[in-house]
Amino acid sequence: MNNYVKPWGGRFKKGTDHKVEEFTQSIHFDRRLFRYDIEGSLAHARMLGKQGIISSDDVSSIRKGLNRIRKEMEAGSFIFDVRDEDIHMAIEKSLIQRIGKAGEKLHTGRSRNDQIVLDVRLYLRDEINNLIKILKNLKKELVEAAKREVNTIMPGYTHLQKAQPVLLSHYLLSFWEMFDRDEQRFKDCQKRVNVLPLGAAALAGTSLPLDRRYVARLLKFPTVSRNSMDTVADRDFIAEFIFSASIVMMHMSRFCEDLVIWSSSEFHYVEISDTYTTGSSIMPQKKNPDVAELIRGKTGRVYGHLMAMLTILKGLPMTYNRDLQEDKEPLFDTVDTVTSSIEILTEMLSQITFQRERMEEQAGKDFSTATDIAEYLVQKGIAFREAHGIVGRIVEHCLDNRKELSALTLTEFRKFHAQFDKDVIPRLRPANSVNLRKTIGGTSMVMVEERIREIEKGS
Ligand code: ARG
Repeated sequence: MNNYVKPWGGRFKKGTDHKVEEFTQSIHFDRRLFRYDIEGSLAHARMLGKQGIISSDDVSSIRKGLNRIRKEMEAGSFIFDVRDEDIHMAIEKSLIQRIGKAGEKLHTGRSRNDQIVLDVRLYLRDEINNLIKILKNLKKELVEAAKREVNTIMPGYTHLQKAQPVLLSHYLLSFWEMFDRDEQRFKDCQKRVNVLPLGAAALAGTSLPLDRRYVARLLKFPTVSRNSMDTVADRDFIAEFIFSASIVMMHMSRFCEDLVIWSSSEFHYVEISDTYTTGSSIMPQKKNPDVAELIRGKTGRVYGHLMAMLTILKGLPMTYNRDLQEDKEPLFDTVDTVTSSIEILTEMLSQITFQRERMEEQAGKDFSTATDIAEYLVQKGIAFREAHGIVGRIVEHCLDNRKELSALTLTEFRKFHAQFDKDVIPRLRPANSVNLRKTIGGTSMVMVEERIREIEKGS
């Protein structure tokens, strides 16, 4: 028999079964919200005092009690009990034990249903701010790397087949663009996170004269939610956040996939620092890109959280249902995973060495300048389709004779078309191939340098 009396125990004849207590409690994970729960309660109590719903003496003993609880929780000396069910009740019970009657007034005009959404919104607001900050660091590291590699030429790929030479700086800045969009997505998501839910109470608002706008000001929320039923039922902002995090993970995963491939001896385009690689327990020669692989692997885990969140929501009748407690572990794990992945990728990137000569040597191989030859013919007045056919035949000739395009003489070019002139020879050099692509967003050095300038100016 369980004699522990719950704050909601008034209408119950029997105590809760231990297994049920274990099953329904969320304290082992929602305790991470304690700071926000206390911050919300402090604001709520101040408002209750200002509205004359509780006395100013009550407000000040609530404040002192909550501050003491916060200190103990910060120090790790607070004893959590699963029978308290969740962080809200753990704090409330402890407050009542410390200050008595005044503590019993804190929950006036409030329900755990609006309280939990408040805690999560406050928590997520901070975490998104941090994510925006560390994404900026990652973007900065990419710009630094692009500046170091501003004229490094590498093969650009489509279908993982050599396509056309590009600048490594252009490749690196392609990820800058992706992470920049990710930053925008977080900022946009932040607008919908940053709404005060407190005051919705259980689902219907309250007859007590709460001043929601005042609470919003205290907690720095620019807006107040407008429908109490929506307020306690809504977890869109969590699904949206996990989606935004999934996209960041996907972008990092693609980058890591390239790094994994490029660090193989077959490619040998990068050397990942020893600090960011691990060895094999059996093969002494191995140096594995585990950090990159794990970021790629953890992407699956975050996608899983997104699917969990959407599935939790899809069949819920209005309004609050206990299913919603299941939102927190996927959310917390998403925050932890995306945060640590961004941080470690940023550090790894700062210590990576690109094998410039190897990349450059590969960039000129496998007919990667064939398109340049076709465009050369177009400039001589030949229709593109025809030019494409001519160069196709040149490539075929080279394959038959085991030659690279760069090994062909002008006389050999002329056999394929009379318009070939000696200026075709420099067109075969990867550096020229790259630098002639000057369209907006193209890979030429001038365009890349222009983009770096724009980025550094903050446009
Ligand atoms: N722990 C719950 C959650 O995470 C909040 C409490 C609401 N519980 C309740 N029985 N109304 O959603």
